[in-house]
Amino acid sequence: MKKVRIGIIGIGGISAKHIDELLKCENAEIVALCDIDEKALAKGREKTGVSIEKCYTDYKALIADPDVDAVEICTPNHLHAEMARAVLAAEKPVNLEKPIAMSYQQAMTIVEAEKQSTAFGMTCFSYRYKPAVRYAKSLVDKGYIGNIVGINVAYLKSSAFWEGRALEWRFEKEKAGSGVVGDLGVHLIDLAQLLAGKVVSLCSTYKTVVKERPTLDGRGIGKVTTDDSCSFIARFACGAEGSFHITRCAIGHANTIRYDVYGDRGSLSFDLNDPSVLTVCRPTGDPKEATSETVKVPEEFYLMQEQAFVDAVLGKRDVHFPTISDGAESQKIVDAILRSSECEKWQEV
Ligand SMILES: NC(=O)c1ccc[n+]([C@@H]2O[C@H](COP(=O)([O-])OP(=O)(O)OC[C@H]3O[C@@H](n4cnc5c(N)ncnc54)[C@H](O)[C@@H]3O)[C@@H](O)[C@H]2O)c1
Repeated sequence: MKKVRIGIIGIGGISAKHIDELLKCENAEIVALCDIDEKALAKGREKTGVSIEKCYTDYKALIADPDVDAVEICTPNHLHAEMARAVLAAEKPVNLEKPIAMSYQQAMTIVEAEKQSTAFGMTCFSYRYKPAVRYAKSLVDKGYIGNIVGINVAYLKSSAFWEGRALEWRFEKEKAGSGVVGDLGVHLIDLAQLLAGKVVSLCSTYKTVVKERPTLDGRGIGKVTTDDSCSFIARFACGAEGSFHITRCAIGHANTIRYDVYGDRGSLSFDLNDPSVLTVCRPTGDPKEATSETVKVPEEFYLMQEQAFVDAVLGKRDVHFPTISDGAESQKIVDAILRSSECEKWQEV
């Protein structure tokens, strides 16, 4: 069996998830790692067994390695565009973490690089690979709930209040681009557009709740320059409306993602704390009497994100494969959310 030989750039928090899944893929092999932090590299090496000669501190060396067929990028947001363009220029497929860029304009430079390349890119919209999401999408596509009229979404975390949490890159605008909007919001926006089609206009508000944090060297206090809570309402091209609350200030929630999708013939709900079930409601008589039922997601809706990337490299693309253009589309909405919050007005997307 042909194995895709993978190199990973950025061996921090999310790379652990990539590595765990890749180690489960029979047709993939992790052959190279790159990080500017030697400790992170050593940890990655221990987990993957990659040889010391294939552990790089310069991402360009990993991309140029002839033993690397495809590359995964798990670095902070401000590095994504430059690194992804370099991978595509080397004619290698790239799996790029979200948000793919710092702005829509920058995201389009990756779309352009992909057009010039024989290779392709994937956006790590991991929630597309939750079974409940894939099952919901198939039911929506089959018309199970009729035409979508509304979506209600919450992404709740309490991570803004973790004791002693330092001024990491994600709290700095020049490295992250935005806070919860780009970090968590892009996932929700992508799912909303997957289920209900394009968002055409929106009105939003965001704020920074924890305004200062200890600097990484522990010697001082620095200013937080990204948002940590945001709400917006949106109109979709299909006529549906949506309401979204995205926050890292919800004590009691480690990582709650709740989605309610209302159609004119039924409704669907999922809570990604348990992605193996979907709550469905399709009244046969008067909707006043309707009750919801929670059902187990059938086996056919299970697929790992990393398996989908490896399969795509081998020429078999999953039907809901998140492309680089999908990443750019979500980035367009992120930009509109930031504009709307800043000028306190509705924005066309
Ligand atoms: N898909 C998801 O659900 C999900 C979840 C968490 C994070 N992410 C995304 O993953 C990315 C990384 O987030 P994280 O939480 O793992 O961050 P992190 O800070 O834990 O890890 C980033 C790693 O990149 C390394 N790095 C920085 N500059 C580098 C360079 N020039 N070359 C090589 N390595 C470099 C850092 O040393 C660090 O080890 C972000 O874009 C984030 O939005 C996605």
